[in-house]
Amino acid sequence: MTIPLQTVGLTKNYGGLCVTDAVDFSLEPGARHALIGPNGAGKTTFVNLITGVIPPTSGEIRSFGRDITNMAPRQRVKHGIARTFQINSLFPQLTTAENVALAITERTGAASRMFSRVERDAELERETVTLLEDLSILDMANKRIAGLAYGQRRMVEIAIALAVKPQILLLDEPAAGVPTNESRAIIELLERLPSHISILLIEHDMDLVFRFANKITVLVEGHVLLEGDCAQIRSDARVKEIYLGRRHG
Ligand SMILES: Nc1ncnc2c1ncn2[C@@H]1O[C@H](COP(=O)(O)OP(=O)(O)O)[C@@H](O)[C@H]1O
Ligand SMILES: [Mg+2]
Repeated sequence: MTIPLQTVGLTKNYGGLCVTDAVDFSLEPGARHALIGPNGAGKTTFVNLITGVIPPTSGEIRSFGRDITNMAPRQRVKHGIARTFQINSLFPQLTTAENVALAITERTGAASRMFSRVERDAELERETVTLLEDLSILDMANKRIAGLAYGQRRMVEIAIALAVKPQILLLDEPAAGVPTNESRAIIELLERLPSHISILLIEHDMDLVFRFANKITVLVEGHVLLEGDCAQIRSDARVKEIYLGRRHG
């Protein structure tokens, strides 16, 4: 099987500042991979490069055997790469189901024109309900986003990322700013995601990282400091220094 995602010498400079420094990275099929590192390490930039939000200065991005370095962001979504954002991107006055249905419509838009409106609406509702059911958040379907707890909104954002039926899911701090009691529900939702989706999780909370991931990459000042399984990362003196030596948010 070809590798879902691979970067080779991926580099991003802003003027003299090297934010992504020749990163060689692989996301394996069905990966539960975490990307960690202090604030400003370049984690979000890395996701922005992979999704095509910003162009790299040099290097390559490959996905399922294809060079996607210069592919437009929308094409990358069609190719199977979805993400959640660090910032909220929902329509607050619409319900959970309406937000998810809109996202599904973005995917199916062209094809669904072949069906009648009634068939289309029924199919859309079926898919929306199935998606929410699979994530065990069907109880939120008819609630407006504005009335949901913050942690619940983050779950809807994950549902929306799944609406494009991705093969690769990039999660940029899905539990950021969420109270501890709600972040547990988020990690439980992440554990329910289909195993065929290859997932890259950016997360500060090391308990969540160790619980979710079986492979971890540590990014510091744009370069990969080390990569390993949970035990290797846990026991590394440099990681302890970063995560236990000083606080960061
Ligand atoms: N558009 C930009 N112009 C200049 N510097 C940027 C830009 N975007 C991000 N940076 C810098 O890149 C570094 C990495 O940022 P970021 O990828 O957001 O880190 P992280 O997500 O790990 O906290 C930071 O020093 C940030 O200030
Ligand atoms: Mg970030």
